Amino acid sequence: MLTVRWAKHAARGVGVAVAVFLLLACEPRTAAVATPSASAIESLRPPDTRLAEKYERSCMTCHVDTASGAPRTHDTAAWSRRASAGRDALITSAQRGNNAMPPMGLCPDCSREDIGALIDFMRGEQP
Ligand code: HEC
Repeated sequence: MLTVRWAKHAARGVGVAVAVFLLLACEPRTAAVATPSASAIESLRPPDTRLAEKYERSCMTCHVDTASGAPRTHDTAAWSRRASAGRDALITSAQRGNNAMPPMGLCPDCSREDIGALIDFMRGEQP
């Protein structure tokens, strides 16, 4: 009798352990496919150090944060929805500003070429 009760208890324990294992095994994989983690996005920089400095003090403030409403760096789905008008139109839009996106993206010393290269980087293309 005692062994039967122990066996039932042990079986329930194994069931719970399997369920926890399955949860742990599946969860990170589905999360990684859906969106890159916030810290992965925050660690991205343009390879050019001059552009990286401009990116860090301007674009990065908003473009790593979903709450800002900005398309996030390397979020290709968010950027592809905006790229239909073409690269030049995106650059002009960034220079003029658009809703919560300030004119020049708060980078007054950025040239049109810099803005273009920073957009290429954020869209996931090498400047
Ligand atoms: C103060 C926050 C902020 C900063 C700083 C910022 N952005 Fe943005 N950006 C936004 C937001 C918010 C949007 C989305 C605006 C909308 O569509 O309503 C946006 C959108 C954009 C777009 C898409 C425009 C369009 O017409 O679809 C481009 C391109 C862009 N930003 C480039 C840049 C660049 C380049 C920099 C740095 C030089 C920068 N942004 C800095 C907040 C910011």
